[in-house]
Amino acid sequence: MFVRPLEITSLTKCFPTASGDVTVVKDFNARILPGEFVTLLGHSGCGKSTVLSIIAGLQESTFGGVIVDGTEVREPGLERAFVFQSPCLLPWLTAFENVLLAATQAHPGKSNTDLRQLVTRYLGLVGIEEYASQLPTELSQGTQQRVALARALSQEPKILLLDEPFGMLDSLTRFELQDLVLELWEKDRKTVVMVTHDIDEAIYLSDRIILMTDGPESRVGLDLRVSLPRPRCRHAVSQDPEYFDLHARVIDFLESHSRQFTNQKELLHEA
Ligand SMILES: Nc1ncnc2c1ncn2[C@@H]1O[C@H](COP(=O)(O)OP(=O)(O)OP(=O)(O)O)[C@@H](O)[C@H]1O
Ligand SMILES: [Mg+2]
Repeated sequence: MFVRPLEITSLTKCFPTASGDVTVVKDFNARILPGEFVTLLGHSGCGKSTVLSIIAGLQESTFGGVIVDGTEVREPGLERAFVFQSPCLLPWLTAFENVLLAATQAHPGKSNTDLRQLVTRYLGLVGIEEYASQLPTELSQGTQQRVALARALSQEPKILLLDEPFGMLDSLTRFELQDLVLELWEKDRKTVVMVTHDIDEAIYLSDRIILMTDGPESRVGLDLRVSLPRPRCRHAVSQDPEYFDLHARVIDFLESHSRQFTNQKELLHEA
């Protein structure tokens, strides 16, 4: 684990468009402590994935930047692993081979035997050892996303970056994978930054919820601490007064920052 926080300072991202440059994110600041589980929440299009991909080094910032363990992020690095909403597995490789490919790239010095042991261990950790020899098309969406998680973990990163990793799953499978991510996080407390649209998911998993204002020029609007006891149990969380309080605060924030909602209220007012 890193001892220094992940620092996001004055992060600003402009995209060129036909009608000129648009500043999607402006002066986004956050400090994420080693081992923290932080979620980014906000309306669609506010810039959550943009911030996450800059942390990952997949995109460059226009101004400001991200410092990981004292070093400015300029490109992807093995200490940061990314899981997308879609599993993005190579369809011609089995689950085992998909993970092995990532593990081989991440650990060039390891022997073939060690690499195969490592892959088996991570497939076991995410509960899909029995599907090792199957192709992605033979696996359910939930199992494919478990392979994607095993692939990210096999990199043995210090930071996990998750962009709506359960967004494509049905609610029961989503619950299972949320519990899996919690269980894995409890084991070694990697720093996690996760983008989600799901308020319950954010409360259930996080230490902190960072709410982004609507774009353009989106920034941190509210930084909420979640102090629900750990290890967490879904039933206990759903009954806890803190859960109701957090839920109400997130809803209040999202409503007050929704341009569509504001316009609707104005229209109703005028009618
Ligand atoms: N490469 C690009 N060129 C131009 N505009 C872009 C580019 N990438 C993203 N955008 C715009 O930046 C804004 C933020 O996009 P981003 O994908 O970060 O939002 P998001 O909060 O992750 O949305 P969602 O919740 O729908 O995934 C959007 O308006 C999007 O259209
Ligand atoms: Mg997104």
